[in-house]
Amino acid sequence: MEESALTPREVVSYLDRYIIGQNDAKKAVAIAVRNRFRRMNVKGDMREEIMPKNIIMIGPTGVGKTEIARRLAKLVNAPFVKVEASKYTEVGYVGRDVESMIRDLVDFSINMVKKEHTRRFDEKAKTNVNRRILEALLPRDAGASQQKFNPIANIFQAVAKSAGVSGFEASFDSGAAESQPGVENEQPSENGQSAYDKLKKMLDEGKLESKMIEIEIKENQMPLVEVFSNQGLEEMGLNMGSMLGGIFPDRKKKKTVSVADARTLLYAEEINRLIDMDAITKEALFRVENNGMVFIDEIDKIAGVKETHGPDVSREGVQRDILPILEGTSVNTKYGQVKTDHILFIAAGAFHVSKPSDLIPELQGRFPIRVELKSLTREDFMRILGEPKNSLIKQYQALLASEKVELHFEESAITEISRIAFELNATLENIGARRLYTVCEKILESLLFAVPSPDITRVSIDGDYVRDHLGDIVKSKDLNKYFL
Ligand SMILES: Nc1ncnc2c1ncn2[C@@H]1O[C@H](COP(=O)(O)OP(=O)(O)OP(=O)(O)O)[C@@H](O)[C@H]1O
Ligand SMILES: [Mg+2]
Repeated sequence: MEESALTPREVVSYLDRYIIGQNDAKKAVAIAVRNRFRRMNVKGDMREEIMPKNIIMIGPTGVGKTEIARRLAKLVNAPFVKVEASKYTEVGYVGRDVESMIRDLVDFSINMVKKEHTRRFDEKAKTNVNRRILEALLPRDAGASQQKFNPIANIFQAVAKSAGVSGFEASFDSGAAESQPGVENEQPSENGQSAYDKLKKMLDEGKLESKMIEIEIKENQMPLVEVFSNQGLEEMGLNMGSMLGGIFPDRKKKKTVSVADARTLLYAEEINRLIDMDAITKEALFRVENNGMVFIDEIDKIAGVKETHGPDVSREGVQRDILPILEGTSVNTKYGQVKTDHILFIAAGAFHVSKPSDLIPELQGRFPIRVELKSLTREDFMRILGEPKNSLIKQYQALLASEKVELHFEESAITEISRIAFELNATLENIGARRLYTVCEKILESLLFAVPSPDITRVSIDGDYVRDHLGDIVKSKDLNKYFL
């Protein structure tokens, strides 16, 4: 689906397929996504003035924050990265600095645009590859001599022998029989052509895939550079590979590989020759600057309690480092400078230990849209078990179907699982929908262990089954003994 085609309603209805409830959050992200598209259609100076309204999603653990981001990423046709705030360190400390999230976004965008361009040249590249493979299949002088006399039939024979594909001999024999009179008679070139065509046909039919051929490919550019081009240089926004690549001319290397492998190697080379990397870079940077989205997960983990020491001291530093990126700054990447003014940021955090107000005020202010995700209810659990396209029940059914077991959940089982999960969340720790995972796993443990077995082909789970397989644990006072 294309981003531009999506109305807020469509975004929400897509998210509804995977996430139960949390309508406020869904609406907020849907509007934000649509606003990107709206802004791009605004004319003149106003377009520059319209800033994205960053969103912060706040809600307990396991209620769907990350899930919303994951689904959104799949949906929007825009550069999108999901990062964990806890992974970054303040500039000057060892670790990743926050600007690297923008570099990740650029990498994503480059890949995305490159894929699109690749698709455009796919057919042309494949044709070229086939031509080069055919050339490699024909011995050196074959091409030149094709017109004068005809060794093609012999070559053909040699190829046929060494290809050793089963069923091949037969097809070759019949082919050779057809061309035999031609070789003896006066039309060698026509014959050569038909042998060439036959070879081509065999190649197209995949009969020569395992045959070894010698191809000439560009040598990998200095593996040495890889050693350097790690973080340090990347942070300076330098691309050693292409810098040095320009100094040293491409070197060609001969390699003996199977036709199948040659296809992969040559395809990459052909594609690289056909696509215009400068155009791709330009397009990719444009998309990052205008449509890019960064999802910063676990932002509560950098909300520092003021007096922390040790490794935590840099938390507030990370927050301060993020500020200019949110505000709009230029970040150096190996593909060029990127302005972050119009990149949309969506942050999320559980804020169990810290509160949103523990974030430095400047950061709080830069997330004007706040949405709260609600704790999940028993009814939510019931729906989560069955409704989403990837629901837990469907996952188990698919797993067991692979063992030829038909798994069925009665309504009473779903009610019971939800009730128990909800109760456990209330008495133990509230871990949201993740509780359903632990509960279901426990209930199905014995079954998952027992299959495959000839006696088990259909299993129906009802409320009693749930209680039988879980009852004692739930009743037990010492719940903590069980990690549920
Ligand atoms: N509202 C929901 N609808 C459907 N599935 C849900 C919902 N909430 C959570 N889940 C499921 O529970 C799991 C955990 O959810 P998710 O990763 O979104 O939690 P989170 O809110 O990001 O929690 P945390 O703060 O711990 O990161 C996911 O696999 C998700 O599929
Ligand atoms: Mg999460």
